[in-house]
Amino acid sequence: MKTDNLAVILLHEYPEYLDASATLLNSQWKRSFSARAHSLSRSCKDLPDSLLLLEKQPDGSKIVIGHSRLTRVLEDDNGCWIESVVIAENRRNKGYGRYLMSKTEEYAKKLNFCTAYLSTHDQQGFYECLGYIYCEPVSSISFQRIGLMKYPTSSVVKHNIENTHQTIQEIHQKEINVFPTLPPPPPPPPPILRTHPTCMKSTLEKYWMKKSL
Ligand SMILES: CC(C)(COP(=O)(O)OP(=O)(O)OC[C@H]1O[C@@H](n2cnc3c(N)ncnc32)[C@H](O)[C@@H]1OP(=O)(O)O)[C@@H](O)C(=O)NCCC(=O)NCCS
Repeated sequence: MKTDNLAVILLHEYPEYLDASATLLNSQWKRSFSARAHSLSRSCKDLPDSLLLLEKQPDGSKIVIGHSRLTRVLEDDNGCWIESVVIAENRRNKGYGRYLMSKTEEYAKKLNFCTAYLSTHDQQGFYECLGYIYCEPVSSISFQRIGLMKYPTSSVVKHNIENTHQTIQEIHQKEINVFPTLPPPPPPPPPILRTHPTCMKSTLEKYWMKKSL
């Protein structure tokens, strides 16, 4: 795969690609454009942040052909969560997914994370190819809800991680008390069914996987 026409950038540094990223994500997972754009607009240095795979066109312009999102994990201070990995449909099966994941892991390592976690409904074969193994479920802190430039974020994330004895709902409640306009927390994850000795799959048919970085 040719890579000299590719670049991987961070959305919080290039907000001009926000709409194109939202369009790419919505082409795979339908959602209201404004809700998607709002969620992406929370990208920041302290995470969550999106990595965008750009492809340079013959006329010099750049288009977004891939997206991944990096955030934190509640149960593991040294772990990060990778989500919303998508490659534009007409670029799939050409190595771009592997390339974007390697850049995402590289960036996670730079941020001193030691383990990458993710979950998938049906792409476990792809992640197995990249060296991911099945693991127990973990909780991503993808609800990091503090408005992008509006509030200091790192202290809130740190506070959440330090209070691992709290339930996600309690943590949400605490944030809601601080920022009363925020939406309610998502429901708790479903109970886990053991379906294979080495693989954890929930009642939602979801696999959790991890990789040492
Ligand atoms: C999953 C996705 C990101 C993979 O990207 P891609 O560019 O098509 O993948 P690549 O071409 O880089 O594949 C890398 C390797 O994984 C393998 N692979 C890719 N998808 C696979 C699958 N579903 N099952 C098994 N192996 C797979 C490829 O054969 C390749 O193997 P090789 O390097 O040994 O030849 C892409 O298919 C996609 O965007 N899918 C829709 C969104 C989605 O489901 N994202 C995952 C959310 S958890």
